[in-house]
Amino acid sequence: MDLSYIINELGEERDLYFNAIAPPIVQSSNFAFDTVAALRELLLDEYNGFLYSRGNNPTIDILRQKLAALDGAEDALVFGSGAAAIFTTVLSQLKKGDHVVCVRDPYSWARRLFENILPRFGVDTTFVDGTATAHFEAALQPNTALIYLESPNSLTFELQDVAAIAQLARSRGITTIIDNSYCTPLYQQAHVMGIDLCLQSATKFISGHSDTMAGVVTGTREKIRRIFASEFLNIGSGIAPFNAWLLLRGLRTLEIRLQRSAASTAKVVERLKRHPLIEKIFFPLDPDFPQYELATRQMKGAAGLLTIQLKADNRDQVELFCNSLQHFLMAVSWGGHESLAFPACASLKAEDFNVNEPKHRMVRLYIGLEDPGYLIADLEQALEKIGKA
Ligand SMILES: Cc1ncc(COP(=O)(O)O)c(C=O)c1O
Repeated sequence: MDLSYIINELGEERDLYFNAIAPPIVQSSNFAFDTVAALRELLLDEYNGFLYSRGNNPTIDILRQKLAALDGAEDALVFGSGAAAIFTTVLSQLKKGDHVVCVRDPYSWARRLFENILPRFGVDTTFVDGTATAHFEAALQPNTALIYLESPNSLTFELQDVAAIAQLARSRGITTIIDNSYCTPLYQQAHVMGIDLCLQSATKFISGHSDTMAGVVTGTREKIRRIFASEFLNIGSGIAPFNAWLLLRGLRTLEIRLQRSAASTAKVVERLKRHPLIEKIFFPLDPDFPQYELATRQMKGAAGLLTIQLKADNRDQVELFCNSLQHFLMAVSWGGHESLAFPACASLKAEDFNVNEPKHRMVRLYIGLEDPGYLIADLEQALEKIGKA
């Protein structure tokens, strides 16, 4: 399906709402019926109609159609956060006694789900170094029901060979889930590579304006319908109509926002790579990135996030760099209009900082929509401050 069609037309039945260009926010929890028979029909199966907004809602329905089509999938469910999408989707695929193989270092709340919550229900997880498919194969057990991927991750950008792992899983009857938040469907088509269920934190690029939380899962109608009828309705963490409308608005500019951010990110990487105070730079489309060949094979692009490892002698220098930034905001998250810096050492107690631990000297940058020269000048002046410290 054509991207322009998906973004501008798909799902938008404008004649139903006065030919308004922007779709309405149907801020209603429930919907009325003319007959008992019509009400009964939806109570028995609400997948295909509007009964109650914990399930379906007209504004959210437009968004579902677009998000599914972007991923080349048959259907999508949209949640109040990416974490809710992860929790609901993972839970829907598992039962007591199952085993999961998960890439090492997935998004922190996914890791906590596998480490802290699922074991209470008799589900164990093996975490593997995802850079070789053989590691996944070696970790499989007779009861492995799920392989969970995140490619690339959002700090060091390690990739998994998505097609090879999907093929391995299919040959063993194992379900695959990927967190595709970094790439979005525009830069990585996970279903084409054989993945069953594709997740995203739509809080990031899909929203694009740092003004709403959201998550999405896409897959076949059969899989999505099963999740809808059980875990989705039961957990009740679907997105609210107004937030869905914000995502519809965000989607209109997704492609050009990604293009702008990708072009600026490439410029920032090029400039910082040669900086004497930067020991290492992590960006999957940098030709020196260890998995560059795999990245160019399975990703169509990369935008926004990169990580720099500072040549700092102590925590004060890392903090001085971050505190000196004038245009980058210091914050978690990414994918919005605004550039961000996030020092990994902010996740540690100050006394646990160890200068010999490369991760402690890492600062993740998100390159937003500002002028790249303006951002590079800000980074350079902050780096200069550490030089003088
Ligand atoms: C890679 C990745 N996946 C999932 C999430 C969770 O999304 P949310 O914050 O929308 O719950 C995040 C949030 O930072 C993330 O970075």
